[in-house]
Amino acid sequence: MACGIVAVATEPGRLGKALGRVIRDSLKYLEYRGYDSVGFALITNEGELVIRKSKGMLDLVEAKLGFSYYDGLVGIGHTRWATHGAPSDINSHPHTDCKGSVAVAHNGIIENYLSLKEELLRRGHTFTSETDTEVVPHLMEEFKKLGLTPYEAFKKAVSMLRGAYALVAIDLDERDKVFFAKGTSPLIVGFGSGFNFLASDIPAFLRYTNRVLVLMDGEVGYITSRGVVVERLRASDGGFTTSIATSEPVDFTWRVKVIDWTPEMAMKGGYPHFMLKEIHEQPEALTLTLSGLVGISEKVVPILARADKVLVVGAGTSYHASLIGSLLFNNLAELWSSAMISSEARWYLRSVGDNDVVIAVSQSGETIDTLLAVREAKRRGAIVIALSNVVDSAIPRESDLSIYMRAGPEIGVAATKTFTAQVAVLTYLAAKAGERRGVINGKYLDGVVGDLRRAPSLISRVISVYEGRIRRIAGMLASKQSAFYLGRGLGLPVSMEGALKLKEVAYIHAEAYPAGESKHGPIALIEEGFPVVFTSLGREDGELLKSNIEEMKARYAWIIAVTPKGSEEITKLVDDVFEMPPMKYEASPVVYIVPYQLLAYYTAVSKGYDPDKPRNLAKTVTVV
Ligand code: F6R
Repeated sequence: MACGIVAVATEPGRLGKALGRVIRDSLKYLEYRGYDSVGFALITNEGELVIRKSKGMLDLVEAKLGFSYYDGLVGIGHTRWATHGAPSDINSHPHTDCKGSVAVAHNGIIENYLSLKEELLRRGHTFTSETDTEVVPHLMEEFKKLGLTPYEAFKKAVSMLRGAYALVAIDLDERDKVFFAKGTSPLIVGFGSGFNFLASDIPAFLRYTNRVLVLMDGEVGYITSRGVVVERLRASDGGFTTSIATSEPVDFTWRVKVIDWTPEMAMKGGYPHFMLKEIHEQPEALTLTLSGLVGISEKVVPILARADKVLVVGAGTSYHASLIGSLLFNNLAELWSSAMISSEARWYLRSVGDNDVVIAVSQSGETIDTLLAVREAKRRGAIVIALSNVVDSAIPRESDLSIYMRAGPEIGVAATKTFTAQVAVLTYLAAKAGERRGVINGKYLDGVVGDLRRAPSLISRVISVYEGRIRRIAGMLASKQSAFYLGRGLGLPVSMEGALKLKEVAYIHAEAYPAGESKHGPIALIEEGFPVVFTSLGREDGELLKSNIEEMKARYAWIIAVTPKGSEEITKLVDDVFEMPPMKYEASPVVYIVPYQLLAYYTAVSKGYDPDKPRNLAKTVTVV
């Protein structure tokens, strides 16, 4: 997801065109991942390392820099989707060392880059960009100076990195190799005859080969035109010494697969729709989101902790995440907080002032209603913090501080992985602010944050256990005209998001309501077979929801529940149940929303709709 990487090692003339052209054409197939800058590096036949890079779209950058004309035997290309440092020529990849003999492209986030950079600066290295990536070529340079070979230096550098990465590197001192390393971010080998590829995704090289190896976390190695070496890196790095990062060979031959996808199928990772791909991508996206939070929260949390009020504004799905955030600021941090729909915010912002914080939540960073709320809040003196997925978009640009979700571009119109990312960030901030204000203790904080960190693996489990069942239930839901989604506390915004997803992609009228309020009117609609979906996030919810479920059951509703495993009281009352992993209440929305995303997706598919392009909807809404 996010940045795109391509790397090639080839015998002369094998690919039928100049290597620069091959890389350019391959990058074209990664454009769908979203990007703001492009770059490439290649070792020419004359033994020169050429690096060309710029902010902008591929065709324009190519017209400006003309890198398709360069030829050579090894090269790397990159489309950058900014996460550290604004989009600019200098921050574009590849990055190089002081001597200009190494070029590195990276997808992911290096969490400990600041401490590595400080040490490298002390050792006399000069940095040109603001990126986390640039530490890698300088680390290689440093270790080569200490006597390691280029490959040893690469492995040693990788062993010092914490965070998420897919890395490729070329080095003038070893001209026939492209080094690679994979940790969390995707990297795939494409096997050719007389050439080999590396790429973030299969479409990049599918024109040349369909024999692929999906690399696993912790694997490093290199490709040449004749072969591929894969090793498993051992953990210890030994710091800035000459000690070598040990590794052992990996027998990968049995993992090489021949795939028969079209490029379009490959772009969707073999999934039929981007929405499904993005639902499945949530574990990886969340890992990246959480790994990027530590640094920025040091700046943001003290500001939140001393605020008088925290207003959280957003539209649509971002509003639902805002509701979760505001409930948690109230409950974990005892901060007066309220969530507002962006287009309604102007009626409430009159009372904000210097001591207040407004958090503007927007996946795209461009929603005009949210941007107008930001402007109004700023005019009234509040501190505005943007929470967005797109670096340097309008809302972060106009805010005082920005937090980026780093969830990777979302292509499906219905927001899925960016919702879980937004909720994870807001939960983290509320828990941190709560500890700082002495409302919760360190142990409680660790419990919440620990469960956020467990969320990626829990989501994977929920998907693998329930996808088949959800598909069957979706087939039944597809014939219904309406549905209710009922919940209490944090379960209410989760229900609201579930209902919105069903409306958006399956065109079924779905209404979310506070469960306790349902008997004050909406229950009049219930008749036999009417779908009512209950969200219970904890045992306490379950107790309270029980009587609401009984009320619906007495009217012969079709009752579906999402509830923690072990809630027998609920399980025995309902028709269909999704038993979820028990979690700390505050962290559970991130995981408990997933069945609803899948339910909406499969209901849309079973009705024959394209969930990636719901009618009347646009991914970014820039009209009031
Ligand atoms: C729902 C959805 C929309 C957006 C809303 C705000 O699936 O995608 O409701 O959440 O238009 O968009 P952002 O978050 O870009 O401000």
